[in-house]
Amino acid sequence: MYSQTWKYMAMAVVVLLQLTTAESSLSLADRITMLPGQPLVWFQQFSGYVTVDDKKQKSLFYYFVEAEVDPVSKPLVLWLNGGPGCSSLGVGAFSENGPFRPNGLVLVRNDYSWNKEANMLYLETPVGVGFSYATDSSSYEGINDEVTARDNLVFLQRWLLKFPQYSHRDFFITGESYAGHYIPQLAKLMIEFNQKEKLFNLKGVALGNPVLEFATDFNSRAEFFWSHGLISDSTYKLFTSACNYSRYVSEYYRSSLSPVCSKVYGLVTRETSRFVDNYDVTLDVCIPSVLSQSKFISPPQVGGQRIDVCIDDETANYLNRQDVQSAFHARLVGVRRWEVCNDILDYEPLDVEIPTISLVGYLIKSGIRVLVYSGDQDSVIPLTGSRTLVHGLANQLGLNSTVPYRVWFGGQQVGGWTQVYGNILSFATIRGASHEAPFSQPERSLVLFKSFLQGMPLPEMF
Ligand SMILES: *[C@@H]1O[C@H](CO)[C@@H](O)[C@H](O)[C@H]1NC(C)=O
Ligand SMILES: *[C@@H]1O[C@H](CO)[C@@H](O)[C@H](O)[C@H]1NC(C)=O
Repeated sequence: MYSQTWKYMAMAVVVLLQLTTAESSLSLADRITMLPGQPLVWFQQFSGYVTVDDKKQKSLFYYFVEAEVDPVSKPLVLWLNGGPGCSSLGVGAFSENGPFRPNGLVLVRNDYSWNKEANMLYLETPVGVGFSYATDSSSYEGINDEVTARDNLVFLQRWLLKFPQYSHRDFFITGESYAGHYIPQLAKLMIEFNQKEKLFNLKGVALGNPVLEFATDFNSRAEFFWSHGLISDSTYKLFTSACNYSRYVSEYYRSSLSPVCSKVYGLVTRETSRFVDNYDVTLDVCIPSVLSQSKFISPPQVGGQRIDVCIDDETANYLNRQDVQSAFHARLVGVRRWEVCNDILDYEPLDVEIPTISLVGYLIKSGIRVLVYSGDQDSVIPLTGSRTLVHGLANQLGLNSTVPYRVWFGGQQVGGWTQVYGNILSFATIRGASHEAPFSQPERSLVLFKSFLQGMPLPEMF
């Protein structure tokens, strides 16, 4: 352990360094001096608000972590969680790939933090998520994919005014789950914006267990359940013929649930049981912060209250401390607590049916490289659906396989399987990973992230 004196001297040096390297006075106000319970680190952190609509006073909250070493030479990476309505701060930064994880009263270092490779920007979006807010509560109504993408674009434009040194930096967007909508939709707007004024240097997007095409993604769940022993042969038959999952969800959100779908889904819920984490069918425990990321992908289970087998939510406890909120320059507006996934925003549920796989094709045609990766223990958006979609897109674009389907290595073990098409479109699984891959397989996820940024195929050997 450091002696106190040494610690204070080191802190003074950090402050000095920070003062001399921060180029923009706008960003200086957002600089985080120290998060409560944080270990001593040598990189800078910022957080605060960017107003995306002056009239309606809509403000999005971000948390920005500069790269551990030599941030000037490293790319800028935006991370988005899904839901819709879940927080990139609570899920992404504090449970998955950020520099710290809450542990009781303190924060501990994450040895596989993605800021080893990049400058990481976590955004709570749309308004109503986490610390993001609108003062006029009518702004929470009628939020949909289109509004979200537009607000996200304005956020990026204005964030770059605060951090002009990142303006023409290599830029990547990463995220998971419903971010399979957010990311391609935002990327398309960025490409269109660039045609007027070249602001973004977008190089690639990485989509983790993403919703890309409703029917293919959702209907791969039946086989996943069945092959992992979560449902019986007879229920599998019903779940694929009498009423499949896409039909169930579609009826559910139109409030027109048919008796047959109601019966089939009742059977599925009973057999899978409430005690298995759908986001990782092999994981024993669940953690609320990483659990609830698919509001529209998994409507409430039938048959009574969900029984909570989850462990105490350290992230929610940490982010609801007043000293923590003040260190983050965060405010609670119109809500009493920071929640990992928020219900106050009224997101259009039927937007889940908008296919975004075609937008992914558009990105590839625009020269943006795309990685679709799957935690292979996730039943919510199983790897099989994503793999089918990627393969189909490659065919449609006439992209030949440039790396044949093969294993890749992370550490000394097989990290998963991968295939690359036309050196621009990649698919990869992460072995033993949940819906939130960097949460359950941090080391393998970091290997994947690094290869993605470098535009290199995943390691073929250890
Ligand atoms: C799912 O059900 C819908 C509606 O019955 C049907 O059109 C679709 O082909 C089914 N998909 C699969 C993969 O079974
Ligand atoms: C892909 O492979 C096919 C068949 O081998 C070949 O005819 C075609 O030219 C290849 N396309 C590209 C873009 O390399």
